[in-house]
Amino acid sequence: MKLFSSQTYTERRSILKKKLGGGLALFLGNNESPMNYTDNTYRFRQDSNFLYFFGLNMPGLAATLDADTGEEIIYGDEFSIEDIIWVGQQETISDLSKKVGVFRNEASSKLANKIKDSLSKGQKVHILPAYRSENTFKLMDLFSCNRLELKDYVSTEFIKGIVSLRSIKSAEEILQMEEALAITRAMHIAAIQSKAVGKKEYELVAAAATKMHEKNGELAYPFILTQNGQTLHNHDHSHTLSSGRLLINDSGAENTMCYAADITRTFPVDATFTSKQREIYEIVLAMEESSIESLKAGIQYKTVHLNANRLMLSKLSEIGLVKGDVEEMLDLGVGGLFMPHGLGHMIGLDVHDMEDLGENYVGYRDGLERSTQLGLKSLRLAKELESGNVLTVEPGIYFIPELIAKWEAENKFDNFIQYSKLANYLDFGGIRIEDNVLVTENSFKVLGERIPKTISELEKL
Ligand code: GLY
Ligand code: MN
Ligand code: MN
Repeated sequence: MKLFSSQTYTERRSILKKKLGGGLALFLGNNESPMNYTDNTYRFRQDSNFLYFFGLNMPGLAATLDADTGEEIIYGDEFSIEDIIWVGQQETISDLSKKVGVFRNEASSKLANKIKDSLSKGQKVHILPAYRSENTFKLMDLFSCNRLELKDYVSTEFIKGIVSLRSIKSAEEILQMEEALAITRAMHIAAIQSKAVGKKEYELVAAAATKMHEKNGELAYPFILTQNGQTLHNHDHSHTLSSGRLLINDSGAENTMCYAADITRTFPVDATFTSKQREIYEIVLAMEESSIESLKAGIQYKTVHLNANRLMLSKLSEIGLVKGDVEEMLDLGVGGLFMPHGLGHMIGLDVHDMEDLGENYVGYRDGLERSTQLGLKSLRLAKELESGNVLTVEPGIYFIPELIAKWEAENKFDNFIQYSKLANYLDFGGIRIEDNVLVTENSFKVLGERIPKTISELEKL
């Protein structure tokens, strides 16, 4: 099991305890998740908060941090000979715990008493929102309450403490993310190089997945690799590649320490882009590059999102797909027709980092409300950026026939949108370009070795 030094974990926990100021913080690790019967499981994925503070990447664990006394305990059951027959000899939980600076272990069955003791003493118990129903059930048992009553124990101090720590990536975390990006780069190049008219989308998925497995990566999220890129999260890979279409590949690996990469490239099925594809591609590329270049500590990511939209609307106006005042269109949210998603999100141990804790805790702050406009409402990260944040920059332009038809039927924004011209784009698909970027004090760093992105780089490949 790959771990950072025990000091890394000890420091993270001690900062968290200070931020909590008191109470008992409970961490539930994840368990195996059955696919179709108990012993046939999905790939195990540890909870990211557990990984961040306790490092141990194995099922069946929980932990408590006592912010009043400093006590730290990892709960879990050591393997018996019955387990070892099936899974082999393993390092003990007690030895592994020492490697992450925790020197006290208890059996899983002791956790319930610990929680009861704390509650009976009047000590506050902090929990996080559960995203797996089995952990919801476990919490209901531990707190002897129903599902709705659990929310009384969900602690905003706990959530905010974790978000403030995990939002700032350390140098050793950046190295892990670079490793995930190296795997992801190989996946993207393999997908582009294996394209050919007549092949199936799933053959490109296979080429990319092979590279990922060769480099000991796992998926950070399911492949989005499709000719129908106008559907933002399209997981259908069954279509035959046909001449004249574009392909979107939004895929990324997580490395052995579970740090994620999230990269999108769009390229033609044919050897070269058509002039119509080129025109839209250059707009998205300009949106991506100008957004990245504007990144530095202090800038509000909502501003970067709006600037990308502003650029998109002015360029779409040049080619006649919209007309009228760009600022007015920006205010009204006309751009949502073409880019109905946000410009990006934090990334780290999770591809959408810390979304289990609540998107608004990660990407918003008091006084910065989430918009209800199409596009802007899906902006997961809006607040001022800080040095050490790692985020995605992922503008796109999509032609979604169903949405265009709906808006046209409603005459929505018909003084701005040139619906007659859009009729020529209904089979265009979509374009998205996505990179992962570290924010620094006065600038930014695109993480990972460059993955071909300009039209000439892609055509050469
Ligand atoms: N891969 C999903 C996203 O880009 O957010
Ligand atoms: Mn993506
Ligand atoms: Mn993304």
